[in-house]
Formats: sequence, C-alpha cells, structure tokens
Amino acid sequence: MVKVGIVGVGTVGVSVVKNLEKNREIIKSRAGKEIKVIKGVVRDPSKKRDVNIELVTDYKEVTRDPQIDIVVELMGGVDKAYEVVKDALNHGKAVVTANKALLAYHRFELQKIANTPFEYEASVAGGIPVIKALRDGLSANHIEEIKGIINGTCNYILTEMKKGRDYEEVLKEAQEKGYAEADPTFDVGGFDAAHKLLILASIAYNIDAKPEEILIEGIENINLTDIEFAKEFGYEIKLLGIAKKIGNEIELRVHPTLIKKEEMIAKVDGVMNAVSVIGDVVGETMYYGPGAGGDATASAVISDIIEIARGCIKPMLGFKIPLELDNVTLKPIDE
Ligand code: NDP
Ligand code: HSE
Repeated sequence: MVKVGIVGVGTVGVSVVKNLEKNREIIKSRAGKEIKVIKGVVRDPSKKRDVNIELVTDYKEVTRDPQIDIVVELMGGVDKAYEVVKDALNHGKAVVTANKALLAYHRFELQKIANTPFEYEASVAGGIPVIKALRDGLSANHIEEIKGIINGTCNYILTEMKKGRDYEEVLKEAQEKGYAEADPTFDVGGFDAAHKLLILASIAYNIDAKPEEILIEGIENINLTDIEFAKEFGYEIKLLGIAKKIGNEIELRVHPTLIKKEEMIAKVDGVMNAVSVIGDVVGETMYYGPGAGGDATASAVISDIIEIARGCIKPMLGFKIPLELDNVTLKPIDE
C-alpha cells in the first residue's frame, strides 16, 4: 500500500480524498497497489469538511511520519508551502503539489534537492495534462510558442460579462465555486496566469525567470463597454499567457488580448482553459479542458500520485535533462 499525507484539505484536498475513495478499484489496478490518504494538515480541524481522515495542524506530523510515502501539498502560498515541501523532500518523501506560486519562485531549487519524485501536473491548467504533454509528449520538439487561457477564474468572469453581468458579482460566484485563489487578486491581476506561464516556460526552455521579470496585466480594467466594442468588431477578449521564442530570446507576457471570434481559442468559455503549443517537429497542438475547481484539479493531482506509486517517475527528470538546449535568455520587459 502507498500511504499519502495531504498538507491542505480545502477545495482541492477534499476532492483528492473523495476521488481516491470513489475510484479506489480502478486506481488500484492502474497504480498496481492500493493508495490511501492517512493524514491531513489543516489550520482548523474543527471545520466541517466531509472526509474521514486524521486531521492535524503541525505539518511535520506528515512530512516526518515514517509511514507516509507521498506528501501532497495543497495549502497554497509561497513561504510556508516552501518550508513544507523542502521538509518533505529532505525526509525522503515523494512530493506532489498543485501550487503554481510556489513553483514559479522555487521549482528549480526544490527539484535540485529532490532525491525522490517531485510532480506538479495540477499546477497549470487544472485538469488538463499539459505538463505531461509538454515534458513528455513533445520532447522531440524545439518549442516555438506557448499561448493559452490559463486562468479559469478570469475566463469565467470574461465569459459571464459577455452576458452583461457585473464583474464583482461574477468574481464572487467564481470564489463560491472554488475556482479562485485564496486571494483573488492573484487571478484578476494576472499573477496566477504568470506563475503558470513561468512553469510552462521553465519546462519548455529550462529558463528560471521570476514573475517580477515579465509583463503582467490582469482583467481588472476590462469593463462591459470594452467587451461590447470587441464583440461589435468580431473579437473576443481573453486573458492570455504567451511564451514566444524570438531568436535566442524568450518573450513572456500575460495580458488581455483581442482574438478574432473564429479562432479556436476565442471559443473557449467559462472555467475552461486551452493551451496551444507549437513545436518545430509537430506543428501546432492544442489542449483543452477544465482549468479550475476541486474535482478537475484532483484528477491531475491523483494522476501524479498514481504515476509515483507505479514507480514510473524518476527523481529530477525534468531538471537533469533540459529539453531546450538553445541557451535561451529572457527578453527584458522594456524592449
Ligand atoms: P483552499 O484555500 O480551499 O484550501 C487550503 C487548505 O490549506 C485548507 O484546508 C487550509 O486549512 C490549509 N492551510 C492553509 N494554510 C495553512 C497553514 N499555514 N497550516 C495548515 N494548513 C493550512 O485552497 P485550494 O484547495 O483551492 O487550493 C490549494 C492549492 O491548489 C493552492 O496552491 C492553489 O493555488 C492550487 N490550485 C487550486 C485550484 C482550484 O481550482 N481551487 C486549481 C489548481 C491549483 P483550513 O481548511 O483549516 O483553513
Ligand atoms: N485560481 C486558479 C484559476 C485555479 O482560476 O485558474 C486553477 O489553477
């Protein structure tokens, strides 16, 4: 049996526990062994959360529990999550995380100290297996461009605003549905999309850029008039994350973009995400699916747990073998 400890039993954590239980038989057959969550870390154990696992408040009871094989970090934030993941890796645990903010700042460093598997499929585009596609499925390619709708909350807001609905009211709804970050400024300010873009760029180009080094503009200033005008001229407004290789430089940016309504990406509505990746061998590929929400994200988290349980993942794979050997550098913002 593979024993799992979850640090953070909120929207995603609860869905992970429930879906591991719901699909126990098929997961066991695919992993080759039973997978069981034995402990969870929360701030407030008295909160009602509808899962039957032991709850503790000190993360070390999970990261240092000799019984636990895999630590799943689902608490969010950067500094504390960094402490938790580092402690888990230093105590020989395999780690799975969905925390894009943590990865945008510390992925390379954490991957360096990991002598155990360290996986993060859920950190970009929720339920879409875009990291495995980029890292494994497209490993024969030089990546020329990555372009995508990678924040479900913003896409949900922009979609609902097309119906004439109020920005604040829709944001509140996105929070209630479990799509938004604990601090929704990360979503509407474009920072969450930037974190995800940096993760994708780090895989495609082995580049260790930080959010402060790239252009980030959110959707806070988009109003109903902008959306109406765009519609009148045959365009949709979408928040895009874009990584483009220009010579030996990589341009990384996040901003609202006018897209012709006939384009595939313009038709991606609601909480759905879509990522287009252009490789020099394959041409354009596109990945589509739910980009946020407990169950969609749990699907990706559990896939990492299953792969680790199967023994398919070798530690530091992504770090030791850069896919891009072109010696690329980040294009500065002001050029
Ligand atoms: P929630 O806020 O719903 O859950 C966070 C959980 O972590 C809660 O159980 C909370 O405890 C616990 N927690 C937070 N801080 C601490 C702490 N200092 N000590 C102990 N426990 C703590 O977040 P989500 O489930 O929505 O998100 C979790 C992670 O997954 C984040 O990194 C997020 O960015 C990422 N993610 C989320 C997606 C989504 O659609 N929601 C999609 C993809 C990634 P308590 O319940 O007691 O407050
Ligand atoms: N808040 C994020 C979003 C969650 O809305 O896309 C998924 O990463």
